[in-house]
Amino acid sequence: MGFIPDEIIEAVRLRSNIVEVVSRYVQLKKTGKNYTGLCPFHRERTPSFTVTQEKQIFHCFGCGAGGDVFRFLMLKNNMNFYEAVSFLAEQAGIAIPSDTSPVQKEMDRERESLRRINSLAKDFFHHTLQHHEAAAVARRYLAGRDITPEVLELFQVGFALPGWDNLLAYFGRQGIRPEEVARAGLVIKKAGGGYYDRFRNRIIFPIWDAAGRVTGFGGRVLDSSQPKYMNTPETPFFSKGRNLYGLHLARGAVRDKGSIIVMEGYMDVITAHLHGITNAVASLGTALTAEQGRLLLNYSKNVVVAYDADAAGVAATIRSLDLLQELGCQVSVLSIPDGKDPDDYLRKYGCQSWERLMDTAPSLIEYKLRQATSTLKVKTVSDKLNIINQVFPNIYGLKSEVEKEEGLKAVARELNLSWETVAGEYKRYKTNKGKKWTFSDNIVKTKHTIVGNKERMDARSKAETVVLQLVLDNPELGKIILDKMGQAPFKNKTYLKIFERCLEVAKRPLYQPVEIIKDLEDEERSLLSYLLAQEIPGDDPVQIMNIYLESINRCYRQERRKNLLQEISKHENMENGLPDHDLLREYMLLQRIEDAEIAGDQGKIDQLLEEYRQFESNIWKYPREGIDG
Ligand code: CTP
Ligand code: MN
Repeated sequence: MGFIPDEIIEAVRLRSNIVEVVSRYVQLKKTGKNYTGLCPFHRERTPSFTVTQEKQIFHCFGCGAGGDVFRFLMLKNNMNFYEAVSFLAEQAGIAIPSDTSPVQKEMDRERESLRRINSLAKDFFHHTLQHHEAAAVARRYLAGRDITPEVLELFQVGFALPGWDNLLAYFGRQGIRPEEVARAGLVIKKAGGGYYDRFRNRIIFPIWDAAGRVTGFGGRVLDSSQPKYMNTPETPFFSKGRNLYGLHLARGAVRDKGSIIVMEGYMDVITAHLHGITNAVASLGTALTAEQGRLLLNYSKNVVVAYDADAAGVAATIRSLDLLQELGCQVSVLSIPDGKDPDDYLRKYGCQSWERLMDTAPSLIEYKLRQATSTLKVKTVSDKLNIINQVFPNIYGLKSEVEKEEGLKAVARELNLSWETVAGEYKRYKTNKGKKWTFSDNIVKTKHTIVGNKERMDARSKAETVVLQLVLDNPELGKIILDKMGQAPFKNKTYLKIFERCLEVAKRPLYQPVEIIKDLEDEERSLLSYLLAQEIPGDDPVQIMNIYLESINRCYRQERRKNLLQEISKHENMENGLPDHDLLREYMLLQRIEDAEIAGDQGKIDQLLEEYRQFESNIWKYPREGIDG
């Protein structure tokens, strides 16, 4: 990963508004000081995802995901830190200095070179298809598949001539070395030396990323020879499973129509465009990857899967469907009759029939049920139970109660069971196995730690939380804390770490709590965003701080007294006589403080506390325990 100097990171952060960036992906509503919306990282019905403009952080009170604007892009777009900063730097017009690490410099150079080579190759192939005599056969082939010149232009379809070195020679004329072209996968090195073209006598489909840059190619034969398709080999810069073919063209239509159609192949998407179905993309093979799923989710939650209806694909299809649902998509399945693919179907029946298929597309659950009942001979109750258990996880994963009920109704209908039976089974399933259907994503793991801790928080943790929130808001209060509590004022290790970083960051001319985030671990970051996203109670921070510090001290004294009591009784049970004199003295003192507290005698309390402070500073035998083990 690249190295970016801290000043640049901070400059980029200052110039990027987290509310504006998040709004590109999440619909936000202003509520008080903060903005809220539905969390993009887990499924939810009521918004617990919060963005604060003032502190430039996001936090989800549901799943615990949280952090700064860079973190948001990393999670949302699968970027690494370097990519997230670069992405925003580009938008903010901030140049990332080129004295980055040598490795990163090399990567950037390589990416740049590959882009240029791919772009040149795309133009070369496209030009060949349109103008070369020997490409007439390809033009005829495409015309035979009803593709219009406009659509060929839109998708920049090309042709690789027969012969071993057409592209190689072209790049030679451009002064680009074959080694470089080989790294783009366009030419292959011969064992005996020299290079030859990878794509020969094939129709060429450029593959683009969402931003509209050519990252690779697919090539189709003109006849029935094998392999039918050949693609750019996988490199760190290109992976079929990370792309969705046609996404750069579909983005607008996906937004307008509110849904995205996923098909299998190049020709499906091209023909779909030809028929005005412009919100279609292709996963380029059967099984959809999680990365493709997340990419989809950036544009729409409503996903229609229109895969080929061949039996081989069904199992893979079902796996991709589960994956999509797990990521939070609303999935329906368009099944095309007679084993056709979208390209065949659209050419034969046109787009009105297609729209009818769309309107009747079954939900994921209905699809699964139909699939199961059509392939298995469902006879016995146990056959039915078997099918039920395949779809219950999906029903459990649905967002709304209405949808769940619809799903259960579909089960009853398709399996010819009574509503009571299905509902009863589902209830059983929920109590037994329901826990299995959890999000696999790392980001959601923190949910349990955070929410769990919050629920079980004792008085001391609660007080520490408020104190930490106050000091995050106003780091000058840190001095009071250190004065009153010593060097380890927080029992919770993470709190202590955040506190220490806060004081560090506060030394800079402009204090921004979001800068504390740097180098924090996942859970610590989640805790920080949690603390920052909450409103600070009251309006006199010093007064509140003192109340809570006193509360922490009181908790400390109670714990101490309990421990002393144990220690003392241990001594008493031993043969060798009396407990340590100081132990007894401290215990008595703590006891008197507590009595005074119960009596509410403030003068007495103050006097005894002063006495206790004196005592503590004289006794170093039993150092005050600061931190959890
Ligand atoms: N595919 C591939 N390599 C293969 C076969 C298929 O990469 N050897 C990918 C291609 O992206 C292809 C998709 O899987 O578009 C679907 O394959 P298939 O259904 O066989 O091809 P079609 O898209 O239907 O192509 P055509 O209509 O031209 O036969
Ligand atoms: Mn096809």
